[in-house]
Amino acid sequence: MLSGLWRLVDFTFAAMNTLTKPIKRSKYLVPLSREHHDGLLFSWKIHRGLAMGINIERITRYCSWFYETHLKHHFRKEEYGLSKILSIDDPMMVRMLTDHEAIKMKLNMLNEIATAPRLEHFAQFFGRHIRFEEREMFNYIENIATTDQLKELFCDLNTTSCARKEWSDEFWISSN
Ligand SMILES: [Fe+2]
Ligand SMILES: [Fe+2]
Repeated sequence: MLSGLWRLVDFTFAAMNTLTKPIKRSKYLVPLSREHHDGLLFSWKIHRGLAMGINIERITRYCSWFYETHLKHHFRKEEYGLSKILSIDDPMMVRMLTDHEAIKMKLNMLNEIATAPRLEHFAQFFGRHIRFEEREMFNYIENIATTDQLKELFCDLNTTSCARKEWSDEFWISSN
């Protein structure tokens, strides 16, 4: 159990370094970046559960809960907030919306028939999506958005922040 915890701590630091060290993120985008840390952790927990041989349905239940509780609100914030900065046909916007739809579709497929390869693919795809937003889309937004636009986005993010909720079945720490 302890080694699982330490790996989780290691991963958290690695994820934070990945997202914060090389990138000087605008303070107005930090609320979304914080949620990206949680998203990378979510992806890691799926991988960890698969490596530990956790029951597939058990991991899938966690995925559905995470989507309903956190992810769908995060998607809405991005889609609504960033639509004030990026046009609907901007390639970054197109990629973000296409990814969001693909993530929802992959989750629906998991809920229909859950398999280990589907879960693995879902977690990988989701991790790639977050890295795209942090490394490409957010850098792009910081370059083209005015300070007023970023401030307005920040206000939108703060008025739509959701309560912190945790999943009690921590299968990534112990399989019991
Ligand atoms: Fe997104
Ligand atoms: Fe995001």
